Amino acid sequence: MNPDQRDDVALIGAGVMGEAILTSLVAAVGAHRIRISDGRAEHGRAVARAHRVRWCESNAEAADGVAVVLIAVKPKDVAALAADISPRIAEGTVVVSIAAGITTGFLEARLPAGTPVVRVMPNTPATIGQGVSVLSPGAEASAEHLGLVERLLAGTGTVLQVDERYQDVVTAISGSGPAYVFYVIDALAEAGVVGGLSRDLALELARRTVLGSAAMAVASGEHPAVLRERVSSPGGTTVAAIRELDERGVRAAFIAAAEKAWQRAEELGAQLDH
Ligand SMILES: NC(=O)c1ccc[n+]([C@@H]2O[C@H](COP(=O)([O-])OP(=O)(O)OC[C@H]3O[C@@H](n4cnc5c(N)ncnc54)[C@H](OP(=O)(O)O)[C@@H]3O)[C@@H](O)[C@H]2O)c1
Repeated sequence: MNPDQRDDVALIGAGVMGEAILTSLVAAVGAHRIRISDGRAEHGRAVARAHRVRWCESNAEAADGVAVVLIAVKPKDVAALAADISPRIAEGTVVVSIAAGITTGFLEARLPAGTPVVRVMPNTPATIGQGVSVLSPGAEASAEHLGLVERLLAGTGTVLQVDERYQDVVTAISGSGPAYVFYVIDALAEAGVVGGLSRDLALELARRTVLGSAAMAVASGEHPAVLRERVSSPGGTTVAAIRELDERGVRAAFIAAAEKAWQRAEELGAQLDH
């Protein structure tokens, strides 16, 4: 190993999430310190060219002697990948995984003893730097390791921490959450079409309303119930709509849906652990 490469970061798996994270890695440490590998060589080479990072023909070459290995392959592929890279993991190399349902214990058992492992649940708005990524340290990961991972992921959006036992709930809220919000945008736009608006206008109104409302909720820091009350004048249109949502159990449906998602995350995690 070249001593200059001890600070390198390896990204294994350059798919949708991997590429979003790659953009953040380049911003954090510079393209010259990043190497990537991927199962699809042609695709991986194109990603490496686009981001001006080093392409590696094998995962072992990518992981060899680097400071951080970031695993961004599908959960079902993690066990084989860990076996592939384990002999190349140097002392002190931090291994980060974004694979849903893969516990830090799962990786620790397959990597050299003492390897610091950090589990991360990102979400797709990371592709435009507006995501939220939630970190959990494994048994060997220190506050310093978490700080390093936090800096590497800063370009994906907001970075938070949680005890690993809550990662399935996090998956159900922020991991799957963008899909629920897209569902709401679609439903709201459909309502506009029912009311006679053109599809284009209805969709633009729906997505801009969700964008502005989320930005306002974040900027004001006020509880969403307070913000909602402010736009609900007594006997007015908004309160009539909210009553209909309550009567149809929409709030309860969101809670039940998220519960289903974290039960499914638990089931998938249990299957992977075998
Ligand atoms: N997308 C999301 O919303 C989201 C949110 C949170 C977390 N995640 C997690 O992010 C991870 C990646 O998801 P994704 O949506 O980015 O998947 P993806 O687009 O399918 O990308 C995964 C990439 O990894 C490659 N790969 C698979 N096995 C490999 C191996 N052994 N060595 C090297 N490369 C390998 C795949 O190539 P091949 O096609 O050749 O296998 C593919 O290019 C998953 O574990 C997922 O749980 C995703």
